[in-house]
Amino acid sequence: MFYFNKPHIEIHINMHKNKICTENSMDEAVKIIKDGGVVAFPTETVYGLGANALNKKAVSKIFVIKKRPLGNPLIVHISDVSELPKLVKHIPKIADILSRKFWPGSLTLVFLKNQLIPDNVVANGNTVAIRIPKNKTALDLIRKSGVPIAAPSANLAGSPSSTTAQHVFDDFGKKVFILDGGDCEIGLESTVLDLTSEIPTILRYGDVSFTDLKKEIGKVQIHPSLLGKKQRNSVKTTPKSPGMKYRHYAPKADLLLVEKNKINDLIKKYKKQGKNIGVMTTSELKNNYPEAYVVLSIGSIKTPKIIAKNLFSVLRNFNNFNVDIILSKNFTEKEVGAAIIDRLQRASKKR
Ligand code: TXA
Ligand code: MG
Repeated sequence: MFYFNKPHIEIHINMHKNKICTENSMDEAVKIIKDGGVVAFPTETVYGLGANALNKKAVSKIFVIKKRPLGNPLIVHISDVSELPKLVKHIPKIADILSRKFWPGSLTLVFLKNQLIPDNVVANGNTVAIRIPKNKTALDLIRKSGVPIAAPSANLAGSPSSTTAQHVFDDFGKKVFILDGGDCEIGLESTVLDLTSEIPTILRYGDVSFTDLKKEIGKVQIHPSLLGKKQRNSVKTTPKSPGMKYRHYAPKADLLLVEKNKINDLIKKYKKQGKNIGVMTTSELKNNYPEAYVVLSIGSIKTPKIIAKNLFSVLRNFNNFNVDIILSKNFTEKEVGAAIIDRLQRASKKR
């Protein structure tokens, strides 16, 4: 639930009613994919902007529509592990262990690619990122289309990912056909794990955690670009997951992550400068900022999974208010987990 202080209005997060796609819209989506077009579809993580992964021309449309830098490769979505061998050069043993445990689900694995995959899918690299989503609509779309589907998150480059069909519509309007599968269950993008490095390396945090992976395969490392600024600066490395070098998830206003007890002082300071201040906070703290222009809650600190689910919606919702600066408490990893911290840091200006 959101709290708007001036005038006082309460806004419910699920403004968009769940609507499961009909047979007709699925048929239309399948036809579009088969004809080399682009379809937005739900997954359990976030909505994807998909096209036939084996059709270079179709894939190039994704980059144009999304305004995606060509150097940022796409994830290829399949519906069954039997589709893997034709897409990759080699399937390491740990891939079997991981796919058995986490597929279908929110783990993306990076392999050496096979020739079948067009260069633009992988941004001219020699590796390909692959996952089997869990969402039934996504699986149906892949199965019925009969091809693997390349799909980045269905948002304009740099914006928060889309977790509802409405978010996709807000970014692309009628430019893309949207398969509406209701709200995404997880709300954060998949964990990306590189299997081409000597030790499997986490390139992006997600719902499948470091500990989950370690439990299955023993050795896992975290790419230095995901570590804190100090640790990051002490390691010389090129970004392995090209997406990590781009600004992400940003609402229109600047998001500042600050100490909890400094928020009210900062509201006063910025108010004097004539700025409208939004506060993003938890349901426990939502009544603590009476001078803010708008206060939006991401949920209870006791339920980080709900916070993950709400995060992009709330970041996007600030765009509906005339807010100049958004203040948020600097959460700790212990409170909300690495994936949420990562998204907040990338959404904020000071990283
Ligand atoms: O949950 C998800 O992963 C969603 C849904 C739609 O599946 N997709 C998604 O895609 O988040 P996107 O394009 O927004 O993020 C994919 C990330 C980017 O950071 C990209 O650089 C990285 O995965 N990536 C893709 N292919 C890669 C590769 N071959 N090697 C390393 N990183 C790769
Ligand atoms: Mg994305």
